[in-house]
Amino acid sequence: MKISAPKGTRDILPAEVARWRHAEQVFAQVCALHGYEEIRIPTFEATELFQRGVGDTTDIVQKEMYTFEDKGGRSMTLRPEGTAGVVRSYIENGMGSLPSPVRLFYNITAFRYENVQKGRYREFHQLGAEAFGSNGPLVDAELIGMLALYFERMGIQDAKLRVNSIGCPVCRAKYNQLLQAYFEPHIQGMCEDCRGRIGRNPLRILDCKVERDHALAADAPRLLDHLCADCQTHFDGLLRALVAQGTEYTIDNGIVRGLDYYTRTVFEFVSASFQSLGGTICGGGRYDGLVEEIGGAPTPGVGFAMGLERLLLELEARDIVLPDTPPMDLYLAPMGDMAATYAASLVARLRRAGVRAETDLCGRSLKAQLKFAGKRGVRFAAVIGDSELSTGQVKLRRMRDGTEESVSLSELETDATARMAAFGD
Ligand code: HAM
Repeated sequence: MKISAPKGTRDILPAEVARWRHAEQVFAQVCALHGYEEIRIPTFEATELFQRGVGDTTDIVQKEMYTFEDKGGRSMTLRPEGTAGVVRSYIENGMGSLPSPVRLFYNITAFRYENVQKGRYREFHQLGAEAFGSNGPLVDAELIGMLALYFERMGIQDAKLRVNSIGCPVCRAKYNQLLQAYFEPHIQGMCEDCRGRIGRNPLRILDCKVERDHALAADAPRLLDHLCADCQTHFDGLLRALVAQGTEYTIDNGIVRGLDYYTRTVFEFVSASFQSLGGTICGGGRYDGLVEEIGGAPTPGVGFAMGLERLLLELEARDIVLPDTPPMDLYLAPMGDMAATYAASLVARLRRAGVRAETDLCGRSLKAQLKFAGKRGVRFAAVIGDSELSTGQVKLRRMRDGTEESVSLSELETDATARMAAFGD
C-alpha cells in the first residue's frame, strides 16, 4: 500500500531548498545585525508548559496540540510555537543573570492540528525572536524594525505593520467587563465559539471571522480608549520610537492575537497580496507575565514569529525571485577504465578546490553520460579518453550551446573556476 506524507505536512524538495535556505540565512544575518543570538530548543516539551504558557483557553491548547504519552507515562506535546520553549530554556539556563535584554532568535518547526488550507499546515516553520528583561517600548520597536529590515532584504518594500495595545491584566480586566456588557444582548445570535469566549476571554470575540460577529465587533468599545496610564505611556513610547526609526505602522484595534500570554504591545505584519487567512505573515507582542507564569522571576519579554511557508507564498505572489540551487559546474565524462580512475581523482581534487564537479558513477556510455550531464543542467563538460590522457589536453564544452575550448588538464585542475568564468555560461 502506498504511504503518503501525513495531511498538513509537506516535503521540501531539492528544487525549493535554496529558497528556504536564503530566507533563513537572511533572517540570521538581520538578527545578528541587531545583536540577537540563535537558540535551538527541543521539538517536544512537557504538555504543562504549553497549557500554562500558551494558555488553557486558547484554540491551540484546546483543539490543536499533538499530545502523546511517552513510554514513561509522561504527557508530552510537539511544540505548537516557540515562545513557551524559549521561556522555559531562559529560566532553566539561568539566562536572567545575563546582561539584559537577552535577545534570542530561532528557526523551528511547529505543529498544530488545524484545518489544512493554503498557508495553513499541521507542520510548519517559524522564524522567531524573543527579547527578555526590558520593560520599555524601545525593545518592542527594535524587534519591529528588525522585521521591517528583514522584509526589505527579502524584497518586500511595503509590508504593512499593524500595532495595538491590549493593556495589562488590570486595565484589560476592566475593559473585559465593558466588552461583556456590550456583547451580552447579542450573544444568542453569535457563533458557538463567541458564546464560549464571552465568559472566558471576550477580547477574542474582536478577532472572530464570522461576518455577523465581525460587524458587531466593529462598534465595540476600543481597548485603546481604556488603557491605564502606564499602558498608555508605553504605547505612546512605542509609536514615537517607530516614527523615530522610520517604521510605518497602522493602529488596528482588531489585533488581539490568539495566544493568552500577551500584554500591552501586539503587532502583525500583513501582506498586501496574500489575502487568505487575513494575510498574516507574522505576529508578535509583549508578554510581561509569561516568565513568572512558567516559574521564573518576574521578567518582561517581547517577541514575534513569522510563518516561513506564508512568507514564501507572499514572495511568490509578488513574483520575487529567490536564488535557485546553483547547477553543477563541471561534468567529467571518462571513456575507458584508465580515464575513469583519472576522472575520479581529478573530481576529488576539483571539489577540494571548491568546484562543483561530478563524474560517472554508473558505468554509462559516453552518449548516456552527456545526456545525463545535460539533464542535470551542468554548465561545462569535458570528455577524457586515452588520447586526452596522453596529450594532457581536453575540450571544455559549454553545455548551453556546445561550444568547445581546448584546455590543459593541469590548468583545469589548478584553475577550473577562472577558465569557466572566462568562457562564460
Ligand atoms: P502565531 O500568530 O500563533 O504566534 O504564529 C506566528 C506565525 O506563524 C503566524 O503569523 C503564521 O505566519 C505562522 N503560522 C501559525 N500557524 C500556522 C499554520 N498552521 N501553518 C502555517 N503557518 C502558521 C506565535 O506562534 C507566537 N509564538 C509569536 C510570538 C513570539 N509572540 C511573541 N513571541
